[in-house]
Amino acid sequence: MRVAVYPGSFDPITLGHLDVLRRSLAVFDQVVVAVLVNPKKAPMLDVADRVDAIVSGVGEALPECAARVDVRPFAGLTVEACREVGAGSIIRGLRAVSDFEAELQMAHMNHRLAPEIDTVFFMTALEYGYLSSSLVREIVRFGGDPTGMVPPSVALRLVTAAAAEGAPSRVR
Ligand code: PNS
Repeated sequence: MRVAVYPGSFDPITLGHLDVLRRSLAVFDQVVVAVLVNPKKAPMLDVADRVDAIVSGVGEALPECAARVDVRPFAGLTVEACREVGAGSIIRGLRAVSDFEAELQMAHMNHRLAPEIDTVFFMTALEYGYLSSSLVREIVRFGGDPTGMVPPSVALRLVTAAAAEGAPSRVR
């Protein structure tokens, strides 16, 4: 069985991430979406919420693939998360040339740490090339509408989280 790990912060998962996940499921039998617990960053959604958001987002956007997707939190090195689940590949998305340099460095470093693991890149669909979790967070925090950027249940979750932070309420 071909198993891959798709690591990320996913704060929140976007339709761009789900597009990369869909493409990866055409190549791999099972994909483990590994959600980074990073004690140095204060995320908008805590890790349990990010995991729940991904599970519901996959159910909404990729229902036919949901059985082949496992979502779990991880702390520490991505290559160790791969070894734990027997994955030989790391999946990452590329939106634009600007993503390339940092991703190349990370891929080489991961290969240095674990030569048995390769990084496989998928191009995000052009329509999601502008989309990032950080922009989505900013939009929601200023009262903007994330519809069409994230799955519907994730949009609701974000608007609720933004309200709890005291964001303006134009879209609620
Ligand atoms: O969604 P992001 O924030 O771009 O994901 C970055 C992520 C989680 C893939 C990266 O920070 C990572 O792999 N962190 C785990 C720690 C690690 O393995 N560091 C060495 C990477 S070369």
